[in-house]
Amino acid sequence: MTPVKNLAHLFENNQKWAAQTCQSCPDFFSRLAAQQNPDYLWIGCSDSRVPANEIVGLLPGELFVHRNVGNLVIHTDMNCLSALQYAVDLLKIKHVIVCGHYGCGGIAAAMEDRPHGLVDNWLRHVRDIAHRNHAELDAIPKDAERLRRLCELNVIDQVINVGNTTILQDAWGRGQPTAIHGWIYDLHDGLLRDLDVCVTSRMELDSLQRKSKLC
Ligand code: CO
Repeated sequence: MTPVKNLAHLFENNQKWAAQTCQSCPDFFSRLAAQQNPDYLWIGCSDSRVPANEIVGLLPGELFVHRNVGNLVIHTDMNCLSALQYAVDLLKIKHVIVCGHYGCGGIAAAMEDRPHGLVDNWLRHVRDIAHRNHAELDAIPKDAERLRRLCELNVIDQVINVGNTTILQDAWGRGQPTAIHGWIYDLHDGLLRDLDVCVTSRMELDSLQRKSKLC
């Protein structure tokens, strides 16, 4: 079947949303059009069930967002690094939030022994994390529990990756206060959990790396 060329219902939704927003705050769009001044960069999964702004109750203009499959921060990914650099150097955000989620299809696919196409190259990074942590993961008898833990370990790894970028190293080096947080979202209850791996300096990053045995 040919896909429809006109997604009219989405435009209707958009008009309703713009009208409602204007009604509750008449200068909302003119203010936002003039500038954005977010305090946070969100690095999350592309999963449609994890909409960044809604989860943390932030309005347009308050959250700078980068999302990809599995919320990965890869040292050579110019897309993610550019978003990070823009957020830290130009917008001067104060917090980078790496947010994973339980039930992540990307994490599950990374551990399956069947091919998924090109995305397997991207998800290879997750498989590498599983290999590095095999002792801990192998000790978890239930598959679902093991995957949940891998979702957490993946977030911790990405927090470390953010910290090791030249962007964060330089920001900390010049005394620009920037924190990196590792969170996980549960699709079942809509709640976020702080993984308690927040780092705000090179020293804290070193200590997290030592704890995670990833140095
Ligand atoms: Co996901």
